[in-house]
Amino acid sequence: MAAVQLVSALGRRAMCRWTAAGDRARERVPSAGHIRQSFVCYFRDKQRHREVRSAPVIPRGDPSLLLVNAGMNQFKPILLGTVDPRSPMAQYQRVVNSQKCVRAGGKHNDLEDVGRDLYHHTFFEMLGNWSFGDYFKEEACRMAWELLTEVYDIPQDRLYVTFFGGDPALGLTADEETKEIWLSIGVHPHHLLPFGLAHNFWEMGEMGPCGPCTEIHYDHGVGKGAAAQVNTGNPQLVEIWNLVFMQYSREADGSLHCLPQRSVDTGMGLERLVAVLQGKESNYDTDLFTPILDAIHRGSKAPPYRGLVGDMDPDMIDRAYRVLADHIRALTICIADGLYPGMTGAALVLRRILRRAVRYSVEVLQAPPGFLAGLVPTVLEILGDAYPELKQDPCQIMDTINENEAAFLSSLHRGRRVIDRTLQKMDNSQSFPVDVAWSLHRNLGFPLDLVSLMLEEKAVIMDTEALGQLAKEEAERLRPLPQSDLQPDRVLCIQDISELQRTGVPRTDDSAKYIYKLQDGKYVLSPCQATVVALYDNNSLVKEVGQSQTCGVILDQTNFYSEQGGQTHDLGYFVREGHQDVLLPVVNVQAAGGFVIHTVSVPESLHVGDRIDLFVNEAHRLACMVKHTATHLLNYALRCVLGDHTEQRGSHITADRLRFDYNIRTPVTGQQLETVEEIVRDVICRDEHVYTADVPLNQVNCIRGLRSIDEVYPDPVRVVSVGVPVEQLLHSSDKQHTSVELCCGTHLLRTGMIQDLVIVSERQLGKGISRILAITGEEAKEARELGRILAEEVDSLSLRLDNGMKSLVDSQRLSKEIGQLTDVVDGAVILHRDRRQLQERLRALHRTANTAIRKLESRETISLGLWTATLCKDGYIWEEGKSPEYGLGGHSNTATS
Ligand code: ALA
Repeated sequence: MAAVQLVSALGRRAMCRWTAAGDRARERVPSAGHIRQSFVCYFRDKQRHREVRSAPVIPRGDPSLLLVNAGMNQFKPILLGTVDPRSPMAQYQRVVNSQKCVRAGGKHNDLEDVGRDLYHHTFFEMLGNWSFGDYFKEEACRMAWELLTEVYDIPQDRLYVTFFGGDPALGLTADEETKEIWLSIGVHPHHLLPFGLAHNFWEMGEMGPCGPCTEIHYDHGVGKGAAAQVNTGNPQLVEIWNLVFMQYSREADGSLHCLPQRSVDTGMGLERLVAVLQGKESNYDTDLFTPILDAIHRGSKAPPYRGLVGDMDPDMIDRAYRVLADHIRALTICIADGLYPGMTGAALVLRRILRRAVRYSVEVLQAPPGFLAGLVPTVLEILGDAYPELKQDPCQIMDTINENEAAFLSSLHRGRRVIDRTLQKMDNSQSFPVDVAWSLHRNLGFPLDLVSLMLEEKAVIMDTEALGQLAKEEAERLRPLPQSDLQPDRVLCIQDISELQRTGVPRTDDSAKYIYKLQDGKYVLSPCQATVVALYDNNSLVKEVGQSQTCGVILDQTNFYSEQGGQTHDLGYFVREGHQDVLLPVVNVQAAGGFVIHTVSVPESLHVGDRIDLFVNEAHRLACMVKHTATHLLNYALRCVLGDHTEQRGSHITADRLRFDYNIRTPVTGQQLETVEEIVRDVICRDEHVYTADVPLNQVNCIRGLRSIDEVYPDPVRVVSVGVPVEQLLHSSDKQHTSVELCCGTHLLRTGMIQDLVIVSERQLGKGISRILAITGEEAKEARELGRILAEEVDSLSLRLDNGMKSLVDSQRLSKEIGQLTDVVDGAVILHRDRRQLQERLRALHRTANTAIRKLESRETISLGLWTATLCKDGYIWEEGKSPEYGLGGHSNTATS
């Protein structure tokens, strides 16, 4: 409460009033940091909200989203009712946070507008408060009004409020309730306006939670007639806060379904709020941006920033200032969260932001290369306290920007040459070929507006409509897949979950998946019996299924592992009590909202209430356990060899192999990979104990060297430690030199069972991310053996090449064999380093063979006028106009004599 009073007092004293400019200058203007903190304090201390940290901008497990675009993204499972009941999130009722958001791709995309006006941004901070099944419209409106008008002290007559006016086509009526609430709060009727779907119905994306919203707009100075200007794009009348009443979920077919519980989701753009409270009409004139604008001025020697737009800024200097100031914030935030510029999805979005920034920096401000990255420390000064993750590795952020800038500058140079050459071939009346413009964009990474600008400078026209069509097609390709396309099999949707909850179906107890022991060197899984508590057939809940292809089965308990933590699901079968000879194969197991759903083929009937014996495929499970424990050892070894900054970026574990993605600063060498393998094999040889324990989330932070990924973990959380008991870890302040991870997977009890690990492939996925594929046990041994056999094949081929290159026919045969062996080596499951060495040797043999063939061909070729004849096994091949040094083949005019 004290904090709120302080904020309120400060607000009254210092925050923006409806004052003359002179008065305002005399007041102490609140800083952006203070304004952000006041928001959090108000909801945390006065309204009893839990403060939650900003999620990273890379969405957590939500493939329908490119980048986090709203504060509610991380809370989507709560809104939809699919949250795991063991997750701390499941307890959230009132939450407040300040979320890092990027709107530069997907449904909410502001990239091309940034710089042109004074208020669009790619990166922005969204202040939000949430109620999950707690308060609803009345309290949400009252809190917002109190904060704005009493804490921040914004004069009421500057505020305009909109509410949902209904949509008859969708069968949605006007939100009169909200209108009445605002009137009762004291909003003047002339300041209260209805709007339709486009403005007052908020949706996260094509699918997902949505609902009517009420927005608060601020009048910077329109005064009389301002009501008519709301939602018209007038920069003086800006929306500052959006209060969404989440009531529906938009499904893949476009229909709206009611959510199991009603929630409140609000979002206020910090940049706009700060502009209001600092008495600025432009976000760029606030202390969130001015230090960056100053740094640009100091470093580029461009004329000072004047805040001009459109025709007032003909040389686009001010636009360039804004583009740089905005984009460097987005770049810093995204790279710190582990995103790298690349060619697909969010990485492509980041690449575009970077290239747009470079282009304005170099072309318009004429700043030297490296200038952009030099702005990163200023961004850290502004945002580093609110988001401490930014301060972890600023050099890496700057290096990434610099490397990408250098690559773009060289493309820019090539692009200019392409344009010049194309123009030379065109006559003056022609318009510039769209395919060339598109190729500049697609292949050389030119922002589309840069292509247009470069042509405009040369007074060349182009069919912009056709170019726009190509861009549209690409946007379609870029669109994240709808969730329905991404789900591997039947997974429960929100309606299912709320239906299960409503009908009192108990959540599945799947703790038995962790119960197994080592007996005489063999793993024995615990037997499990269960009762069918729900059945799905054709997507609806039924009491029984007859003979069916597949149906969904929910049991009261299960020992099957459902797909999670990167580990694939178990396979196996069920048997109905009393029907021992009829097996019901289980082909998929997924979990949602605390329910485990088994996809099962039913040769005969199955009923709710049936008793079932469960049989997990032990060989498959054990192979997954081997790979999962091996993945932890690999993660540990990579960090030992490449350094503490090495972080897991993804993993996938199946019975056959493990896949592990991690961040890198420089390409990994063969020698480093060998050391990684040695470290892993060393732990395997020591046959260390693997300890697991459930630990309260608030205690795990004291474990030094613990690895976790960006995920919402359940509470208590499972800790998996190799060689050191978890209890000991909790009571030791020393950093452990072993693998310790938060993980829900099933693991070996001792490491010896892994037997062996070899890396069969390592490749860079994009800048800064590398992917390893590895295999273990017998397969690893076989891979070593196969590598040896293939090496012998190469030796033998090399010997034959030394001795057998006497005739053209022999040489050609050997060359063909080299090609065939190269294909085998490329596709074989062998050690990564063996493959590299063999490929190198085969390339050398190929070169030797080709040189020999060319020499022999020139000896065995005769020319006759325009015709050339080459001796081959079936006689001479005649080819018109063929020059011997180009080798054989490829020409249609052949004749054999
Ligand atoms: N989720 C709402 C928005 O982003 C608050 O505007």
